Amino acid sequence: MTTTEHYTKIAMWLHWSMAIIIIGLVIMGFTFDLMPREMKPTAYMLHKSFGLTVLVLTLVRIWWRLTHRPPALPESLKPLERAAARAVHYGFYALMLALPITGWVMSSAYGKYPTIYFGLFEIPHIPFPDDAKKAISYNTNQAHEILGTIIAPALIGLHVIGALKHQFVDKIAFIQRMCPRCKS
Ligand code: HEM
Ligand code: HEM
Repeated sequence: MTTTEHYTKIAMWLHWSMAIIIIGLVIMGFTFDLMPREMKPTAYMLHKSFGLTVLVLTLVRIWWRLTHRPPALPESLKPLERAAARAVHYGFYALMLALPITGWVMSSAYGKYPTIYFGLFEIPHIPFPDDAKKAISYNTNQAHEILGTIIAPALIGLHVIGALKHQFVDKIAFIQRMCPRCKS
């Protein structure tokens, strides 16, 4: 198997902790409608708290990415595969900002329920003029739904298929690039 370079340990921990949280939030989003009524307040509190945690981690991750050069993609990747990998990575960064921001704007404009971070303290709502709240809440709700139920699963699917293809079909030690405990 061909070996490649690695991301930094911090990039790896950010990648996997955020991947787990984001995949969890997407699954949770799909199950809101199926939940018994009495579970919903806690589920929304956890969704919003983990979602805002993603926003903070994304800012840290962008700073880390800008100050630490990522390893070059393996030489054997075809030009189209490189372009696709980069597009998915940039798409993820945009998504990791857009999902929490649309969520926060939607909740703020809807305004009926406070956002209590893991039940500990209140996160202030973004102030919007009263006459614009309905439209803002509707539009960001639509955007949040499309990003969370279509774009996120599509990007995750492409990303995972690409990683598995490079690992098992091309026989490059690809997952090792992002694996804190693997030797390559
Ligand atoms: C990476 C972060 C996030 C992901 C992946 C995510 C994902 C999702 C998904 C898939 C849904 C279901 C959409 C639907 O079927 O209508 C959803 C709904 C929702 N999200 Fe998020 N979300 C994130 C962050 C946030 C944040 C930060 C907030 C608020 C502070 C938030 C508030 C909500 C609310 C209130 C709903 C329910 C909307 C409704 O019932 O119409 N989300 N989210
Ligand atoms: C919501 C889930 C995920 C997100 C948002 C995500 C995001 C990213 C991003 C943005 C990168 C580029 C490195 C960086 O700039 O930080 C990356 C690299 C990588 N990811 Fe993920 N990822 C997710 C899930 C997964 C899963 C489930 C796998 C398992 C196969 C995986 C495997 C990899 C590998 C092997 C790399 C390094 C290879 C490369 O440079 O392309 N990721 N990921």
